[in-house]
Amino acid sequence: MGFYDPEQNVNQYIEMAKGFDGKALIDILRTYMPAGASVLELGMGPGVYLEILAKYFDVTGSDNSDIFIERFRASHPDASLLHLDIIDIHTDSKFDCIYSNKVLHHLTEQELKASLMQQRNALNTDGVLFHSFWKGEGREEMQGMLLSYYSISQLKHIIGDMFDILALETYSEMADGDSLYIVLKKQPNEPLHPQPIADIRRVTYNGQK
Ligand SMILES: C[S@@+](CC[C@H](N)C(=O)[O-])C[C@H]1O[C@@H](n2cnc3c(N)ncnc32)[C@H](O)[C@@H]1O
Repeated sequence: MGFYDPEQNVNQYIEMAKGFDGKALIDILRTYMPAGASVLELGMGPGVYLEILAKYFDVTGSDNSDIFIERFRASHPDASLLHLDIIDIHTDSKFDCIYSNKVLHHLTEQELKASLMQQRNALNTDGVLFHSFWKGEGREEMQGMLLSYYSISQLKHIIGDMFDILALETYSEMADGDSLYIVLKKQPNEPLHPQPIADIRRVTYNGQK
């Protein structure tokens, strides 16, 4: 069970996120991706960003919380939605872009590296990743939910030579310069294989993996 499986945590997040819609980030993404490109959103939560992405792209939303998925499906019965974990990205489909807003900070560095490898394998040739993070150092834990802060140099180190970095920029969400976004382009080399996910996945909410 994850942090966002209980209904009350979902409701709490929706209240807290009111007023944020990420339109500015999606406008940046549009400078890298042509209209109509296939975009997978990871950790869609309430789906506010998915609705904006859907105006420009052929979108698939995903989350590992059934509550977020079911709530969005109730109001968007035709939406393409996947129950997907951000570490193992278990899907046979390939996408032109994989996008997330403030989701990958729930991973440890080791999990983030594995996730990036798996995402790379789920991208079409010349595919692009677009993700945002909280900028800073260290990490906190709230009821088993990890909140990691990343610096530019730390992200560069994790990305290594897996991708070309098209952009790695600071922006402001709740406070001045509190966030980072990255735009990564897949390099045309062999598929990457992380070590077995079960070996690296941390124990999370309710002490489960
Ligand atoms: C901070 S919320 C962000 C939601 C949305 N992107 C937004 O900006 O409003 C984090 C989201 O990531 C999802 N999430 C956390 N861990 C996940 C995992 N291991 N696999 C898939 N989704 C996960 C949560 O269910 C939640 O929807």
